[in-house]
Amino acid sequence: MLDELQELETRALRALTHATSLRDVEDVRVKFLGRASGELNAFMSRLPGLPADERRSAGKMLNDVKEHITEAIADRTAELEASAVRASPALDLSMPGRSTWKGGRHPVTLVIDEIEEIFRAIGFTIALGPEAETEWYNFGALNFPPNHPAMDAHDTIYLSDDVLLRTHTSPVQIRTLQRWAPPIRILAPGNVYRRDPFDASHAPGFAQIEGLAIDEGISFVDFKATLTYFAREFFGTAITRFRPSFFPFTEPSAEMDVQCQICKGAGCAACKGTGWMEILGSGMVHPAVLEASGVDSERYSGWAFGMGPARVAQQRYGIPDIRALYDTDVRVLGALSE
Ligand code: PHE
Repeated sequence: MLDELQELETRALRALTHATSLRDVEDVRVKFLGRASGELNAFMSRLPGLPADERRSAGKMLNDVKEHITEAIADRTAELEASAVRASPALDLSMPGRSTWKGGRHPVTLVIDEIEEIFRAIGFTIALGPEAETEWYNFGALNFPPNHPAMDAHDTIYLSDDVLLRTHTSPVQIRTLQRWAPPIRILAPGNVYRRDPFDASHAPGFAQIEGLAIDEGISFVDFKATLTYFAREFFGTAITRFRPSFFPFTEPSAEMDVQCQICKGAGCAACKGTGWMEILGSGMVHPAVLEASGVDSERYSGWAFGMGPARVAQQRYGIPDIRALYDTDVRVLGALSE
């Protein structure tokens, strides 16, 4: 009986390899394992008539054969199903893939990266500071006298009596000077917050890039030459001008304008009809700032600037309204970012 069972298994497995459809597989199953007339069942009914020891080995073999055939049926079924999927006309493997969404970098990020690269090439490193600052870092150390009117332009949200959302990246000047001895050349990008109106060239939350260079013997000439170098590198042949200005933490102070690249100086909404776009405030670092940070102002001097990369992005990409940079309209941002 064992030989017969062996022979049955061989026939069943061979029949399965020849089965070319699920229907064939089902026929094999019925023929060998079927309840009523399956071949294996015929052996079942012979079992009780066998001597005890033969019965045990035959019973075990019967189970093994049943298991092998069942497994082979499952395998063949899976194979046939897989090849049916492959052969199905609904699946056209030559069809081009569907294009997927790819994120792009925001125009302001692109501009910050580009500015960083220009300054890195002339020896600047990147420094970062917290967006929640104390009054001392944001104002006191930067030589704002208490209640000075210059603070009107720096109204912001206070998180507690002493902690506020920084209104500029200038506190990073102090943190850097406290931490590192000159010579210092850093660029500090980051977000700042102000009670500014949302209009074509302002937003209440925006990015800034601080620049700071401190060393022995640095003069206004170095300052103007470096910023002019930057303008030439970044804007190409852009026409610039420096206007006298006031900041408590620089003396003298200047604002740098570039000719509006959107209207080429003719006057438009973005430049409020002036033909110029203010891109940064700057000046020679006030000795009081150096002293507040523990730097000897008799020995060291330097310059600083605070640039608005959104303004720069406006100029670079010809964006007439800064609000487009906040609208997350992918039709606009997608066209601007690469
Ligand atoms: N912190 C100034 C501002 O936000 C800009 C500035 C930076 C001016 C550094 C001078 C020097 O308006």
